[in-house]
Amino acid sequence: MQIDYVKARQVFDSRGNPTIEAEVKTGKIIERAIVASGASTGSNEAIELRDKEKAFNGKGVLKAVENVNLKINEKLKGMTVTEQENIDKTMIELDGTENKANLGANAVVAVSMAVTRAAAKTKEISLYEYLGELADIKKYCLPVPQMNVLNGGKHAGLENDIQERMIYPVGAKSFSEAMQMSVEIYHALKKLMKKKFGSLAGLIGDEGGFVPKITDEEQKLELILNAIEETGYTKEVKIVIDCASSEFFKEGNYFIGEKKFNAGELTDFYSDLISKFNIVSIEDGMAEQDWQGWNILTEKLGKKIQIVGDDLLVTNIKFIEKAIKENSCNALLLKVNQIGSVSESIASAKLSFENNWNVIVSHRSGETEDGFIADLVVGLGTGQSKFGAPARSDRNTKYNQLLRIEEELSEKNKAVFGK
Ligand code: PGA
Ligand code: ZN
Repeated sequence: MQIDYVKARQVFDSRGNPTIEAEVKTGKIIERAIVASGASTGSNEAIELRDKEKAFNGKGVLKAVENVNLKINEKLKGMTVTEQENIDKTMIELDGTENKANLGANAVVAVSMAVTRAAAKTKEISLYEYLGELADIKKYCLPVPQMNVLNGGKHAGLENDIQERMIYPVGAKSFSEAMQMSVEIYHALKKLMKKKFGSLAGLIGDEGGFVPKITDEEQKLELILNAIEETGYTKEVKIVIDCASSEFFKEGNYFIGEKKFNAGELTDFYSDLISKFNIVSIEDGMAEQDWQGWNILTEKLGKKIQIVGDDLLVTNIKFIEKAIKENSCNALLLKVNQIGSVSESIASAKLSFENNWNVIVSHRSGETEDGFIADLVVGLGTGQSKFGAPARSDRNTKYNQLLRIEEELSEKNKAVFGK
């Protein structure tokens, strides 16, 4: 099946910012994909091309749209839609830079994902099955969700703050049970927030979690523990945090609330939180440029808990290789738009698996109705997802798609949950 055309348009994400939707036509099939967008982005991420003109405070994506409509369309027209790697490679070569700065990673990844969808359709299989085929991993599995129920940092307009506190229902027996536990805890937490801080405390941040008006980290984590206790899931549900610490790293030191830490002191601070609050995974505990800090963290805590690299790795095999060699962390946060194509995302996951790392497929704080990553996490069989709180449809569209996939796999007796 040959590609008749690819084209794109400017649409809007969950924060009301312009983003790009690509469309691919092959025969009678037309498929689309929309790109998400981060706020606390890693500096080595592939470049999101923005117009930098008056419209939308510079955030328009019409140049990226034009790149799809003219340059990318010109190259991809006539190619076979199932040649994912070749198609991605063609766009990467056409771009000609390390970080997709010419065409825009947003242009390239939108097309890349729409191509994957169209190819799955031509093969008459589900998107997750096709992604499993592309990755040569035929071990579909529903993820244990990390759900960000208390938002902070850039996603809540706060400074010197840990960004995300997530519930992680490892003791659930199925994905739907994990959903039930998480949703019940989410509502218990909402009630608690309102009781403690008044009705406005029920309002939410960018990823659907609440934003308590307190600065003390232990008090925040205490709130989550209380909500978990309230629902009776203390044994089944653990806590995970994403510090996004590059945001509070200044001149060699880390600032959380009123406190200042060096990398060693910060590791001790985390170590204390781990034992008090049942924390089993820490993401971006150190800043993206502080490779030595990462080393200290992983040396001290890497045997006990999952140490996840997000800004550090930007889903790029170059940084994953370095981190493996230097023992900087032991898990990859995978964000498709960070590297800018489906093939490169798969390569990053595979390199991680080969080195016995865990992989967590992740959304961005600016999301859309596109549920591609739900199929991706099942297809790659990573066993962990990070798609935000179970609130607002930009997040729930992923969870609802996972419920559909769970049903489909259950009917075939193939619904594996977690790793
Ligand atoms: P971002 O945040 O999408 O704003 O980069 C998510 C994260 O840090 O994991
Ligand atoms: Zn992160």
